[in-house]
Amino acid sequence: MCGIIGYSGYRACLHVLLEGLEKLEYRGYDSAGVAVLAAEGIQARKAQGRLSALEKLLETSPLPAADCGIGHTRWATHGAPSDRNSHPHCTPHLAVVHNGIVENYAALRTELKRQGVEFITETDTEVLAQLLESCYQRTGEPLAALQAMAARVEGSYGLAVLFCDRPGQVYLARRHSPLIVGYGEKECFVASDIPALLPYTKEYAVLDEEEMALLDHGRVEVYDPQGRPVEKEHLTAQLPAQAADKGSWPHFMLKEIFEQPQVLQDTLSTYVADDLPNLAPALPDKLLQNLGTVHLVGCGTAMHACMVGKTAIESLARVPAQVEVASEFRYRDPILLPGDLVVTVSQSGETSDTLAALQLAKERGIPTLAIVNVPGSSLARAADMVLYTQAGPEIAVASTKAYSVQLAVLYLIAIRMAWARKALPDARCRQLTRALCAIPAMQQPLLGKAEEMKMAAQALQNASDLFFVGRGMDYSLSLEGSLKLKEISYIHSEAYAAGELKHGTISLVTDGTPIVALATQSAVYEKTLSNVKEARARGARVLLLCSQNAPVPDALADEVVRLPQCEELLTPLLTILPLQLLAYYASVLRGCDVDRPRNLAKSVTVE
Ligand code: AGP
Repeated sequence: MCGIIGYSGYRACLHVLLEGLEKLEYRGYDSAGVAVLAAEGIQARKAQGRLSALEKLLETSPLPAADCGIGHTRWATHGAPSDRNSHPHCTPHLAVVHNGIVENYAALRTELKRQGVEFITETDTEVLAQLLESCYQRTGEPLAALQAMAARVEGSYGLAVLFCDRPGQVYLARRHSPLIVGYGEKECFVASDIPALLPYTKEYAVLDEEEMALLDHGRVEVYDPQGRPVEKEHLTAQLPAQAADKGSWPHFMLKEIFEQPQVLQDTLSTYVADDLPNLAPALPDKLLQNLGTVHLVGCGTAMHACMVGKTAIESLARVPAQVEVASEFRYRDPILLPGDLVVTVSQSGETSDTLAALQLAKERGIPTLAIVNVPGSSLARAADMVLYTQAGPEIAVASTKAYSVQLAVLYLIAIRMAWARKALPDARCRQLTRALCAIPAMQQPLLGKAEEMKMAAQALQNASDLFFVGRGMDYSLSLEGSLKLKEISYIHSEAYAAGELKHGTISLVTDGTPIVALATQSAVYEKTLSNVKEARARGARVLLLCSQNAPVPDALADEVVRLPQCEELLTPLLTILPLQLLAYYASVLRGCDVDRPRNLAKSVTVE
């Protein structure tokens, strides 16, 4: 997703802007640019490609010294990645960087063209910049111009703007796309996300919907949509600056895979007391005791976590739980009844579809709970109740540690729900909680199988298609394992309910087709093996993941990865590790950009 950085203060701003953009690279982008407001006026430089392309341009075509400026990493929505379509977009009096989508840009573009505006790009942002220029020429005042622009624009924006006749000042406006302001000594900042502020300040505030702001050296002024000054709550970032650094790890993803035992421990210790989940006051027992259906909503990996959550809630608490893809939920007019609960799961707390799903639930008067990793994120601020995961910043685009802690919180909810509703005896709830708390220690030796998974990755690195199969929760894990592999190694794979393979897709299985078979659930173990045998008989190459003591027939699998015995319901917290490592090594072996895979963004803040 696009990243925004802005600065006003005593430093030469270019270095601050470039360093901020570097901290935002993890969001995913295809071009970058900066603009400064110097004595000579606004000057901008922008380039398609990585930040290095922009830095090279700045070497050959340097910018003048300036104390205020804006920067942007672009993830193309309207208009292909190119130098010209990159931000900032400049007009005679201003420069704009934008995160979001202008839904009515075509109509606005036509109107502005009629007024004589000539467009040079295909982007919606240029339309927004030209609209703002037109409003500024009419009003002569930046905030009035931003308000006039806001009245015409449909869609989403996080904006940072330089006005040529407002030295030292950066103007901001926010609608759906997050913006945070950072407070320093005689300097202030704006960024899309906290990591970009950390080298300079930990003190920040989050702009709310439709708020605008002015940064002017040590002065930050925030205004409501009517232009009235607003006092903002100052927050302190809990992350140490190095939290968003790779350190000696080759990739953020490997670092984050290996952080899972610790962040799982951190998350569990936040919510467990006396061998029971303790979720109040965020999630009161009274609500859990009077539940109708739990709707679990998310995207991508978060949605896959919801699938495991469904199994846990239904098997422990005997409460109906439904998993919803957020982008579907928001448009399918879902049936939500009094007593239902909508649980949105998100690492970033900024995923547009998940946010919209939450808004829909609120409009229907249904209580909403957010399970989210980023404090102060839009989802956390919009939900009625919040349970934070403690994964720390997840920088790699492929979500790993966030998935594990999402599972942990969903398990805790399921156990607490079972306890509060007396669906299970107190002793059993405590036993499950203890078993959950024992998982981090069991994850550690599994991470020791990294070399084994590297070998397994070598066997499939040249595959063009492969399958992940499993039953029950192993099917849920197959979906997550398949997504991990696809998104960072670009190898096409499909996840299939093992029992479904024979209903068509097995026709694709030929000699050497790789199949990753998950068989950790004893109730369906033999059934899953039968399905694997069917594929094996047609030449499949099988990597089998199963429990420590599971009997594996000879010649059934080319590789067998065994997982430590644990409460079967909790096995996903173990199964996921070899799957993440398999995807990681496949990506490395194929020379892919592990942390920043092509086309992907860390947080999809647009539809
Ligand atoms: C997972 O590896 C992907 N990066 C992606 O599917 C992600 O899980 C999805 O976009 C949801 O993001 P969120 O958890 O921040 O809402």
